Amino acid sequence: MRKNIVAGNWKMNTRLDDAVALVDEFLNLCSEPQTSVILAPPFPYLVPVVELTKDLNNIGVAAQNCSQNASGAFTGEVSAEMIASTGAEYVIVGHSERRQYFKEDELILSEKVNKALQNDLNPIYCVGELRDDRENGNYKEVIEKQLTKALFHLSELEMRKVILAYEPVWAIGTGLTATPEQAEEVHAFIRSLLADQYGDELANATSILYGGSCKPDNATELFACENIDGGLIGGASLKAAEFHAIVNAVKPS
Ligand code: 13P
Repeated sequence: MRKNIVAGNWKMNTRLDDAVALVDEFLNLCSEPQTSVILAPPFPYLVPVVELTKDLNNIGVAAQNCSQNASGAFTGEVSAEMIASTGAEYVIVGHSERRQYFKEDELILSEKVNKALQNDLNPIYCVGELRDDRENGNYKEVIEKQLTKALFHLSELEMRKVILAYEPVWAIGTGLTATPEQAEEVHAFIRSLLADQYGDELANATSILYGGSCKPDNATELFACENIDGGLIGGASLKAAEFHAIVNAVKPS
């Protein structure tokens, strides 16, 4: 059966000393989580966070982005190969902040997913609609396009390495969480698209995380939904106690 996962996306926050302290504090609360935990620090802290967590079961490290290019004259970019060489095992691709501020479209994102997989990184691929799409009722079309154009060229074997995250853009950092019904509807829809493309077995084996103002006080209800397999946490992942409480809110696998 599929894995429950709680991933913390720190975004562009923390200094090195804060990052180390945050990991230390989290590990003091939870050095052997029952749920799979993934920490996504900024690039400069991948190595220390990998060092701090490498001997622990159930804790992995993700980068927040990777280049769509393999190597070469791309000043300021970080390749999937570089990320893999740090010991990180995951990379977030297609976060709405990358789509919005860095104009990453599905073509670029499909190339990033390919580079991640070629370097043995598991992509955590994010989808989610804008507030207008939700209000106009076309959110399913948006999500279907984000999935099909960037992912559905993958083979079944490749698709098995992908973790999905549904993050409605109107819920990110706003304190407006999707209701469990709204989130579950989209998660079930995503799983049905996976089933149509790759079959029921793969669809049922794929973890689909919810992200968007997920906090200790709403995580239990969200994670109780049949098709919600954990969370991708922003703000609350920067506070060890809150992140720990969210990890504890996951239903047993
Ligand atoms: P918040 O939890 O801060 O809303 O962020 C969610 C997110 O974007 C995680 O990737």
